[in-house]
Amino acid sequence: MTGHEIRRRFLDYFKEKEHRIVKSSSLIPSSDPTLLFTNAGMVQFKDVFLGNEKRDYKRAVSSQKCVRAGGKHNDLEVVGRTARHHTFFEMLGNFSFGDYFKEGAIEYGWEFMTGIVKMPEEKLWITVYKDDDEAFRIWNEKIGIPADKIVRLGEKDNFWSMGDTGPCGPCSEIHIDQGEGIGCGSPECNVECDCDRFMELWNLVFMQYNRDSKGILTPLPNPSIDTGMGLERLSAVVQKVKSNYESDLLKPIITYS
Ligand code: ALA
Repeated sequence: MTGHEIRRRFLDYFKEKEHRIVKSSSLIPSSDPTLLFTNAGMVQFKDVFLGNEKRDYKRAVSSQKCVRAGGKHNDLEVVGRTARHHTFFEMLGNFSFGDYFKEGAIEYGWEFMTGIVKMPEEKLWITVYKDDDEAFRIWNEKIGIPADKIVRLGEKDNFWSMGDTGPCGPCSEIHIDQGEGIGCGSPECNVECDCDRFMELWNLVFMQYNRDSKGILTPLPNPSIDTGMGLERLSAVVQKVKSNYESDLLKPIITYS
């Protein structure tokens, strides 16, 4: 599957599940003084999560152009050190504004990964926020992931915030084990390692709070869903190449002459 086909499949999958396909917004956020660049798919929906804006749909899907070269989500320092970072990328995401919540997001995420892009189930690992028993239970009991492949992690890994302020919440990530031949090679390497072996593919955020400038968390009007998956990462895995730069989305640019 080409990168363009994967993007199309993602948008179509969620369209079938009654999501509105929304265009990528500008890389420069139109009305958000807290951000220099759009750094996630949820940026154009920030006010919808906060309850300050109403749309005529409760489910959305997009492939959002993003830049992570500063601020809270900064990939600049690791470019050239990993096979999976490049500051500019496309983020595939599905969103629920007070509609489905944890169970729906997890079920859609798993079905897309295993049914549509055919990721091998046995290579997938899950992380959840340390005290999120509900997400743990859904993965374990509903989806059937063995408990030893669901790892509980803390704030740094499994609590997502767009910046110092704004919508945030616990999250659950789908990682793929790319095998011993990729990454640091340490026998202790695991899903917490920063190398390329256990690569995060998809982040499912359970949006529940707004963080203000004093760091105080206030519940959002409605629990919501915000997900993000790097199109170039997913394409590299589907195309069985070892680096995003070798995927059909980036390689033609590098070899162009
Ligand atoms: N907004 C979440 C992220 O960027 C999905 O990881």
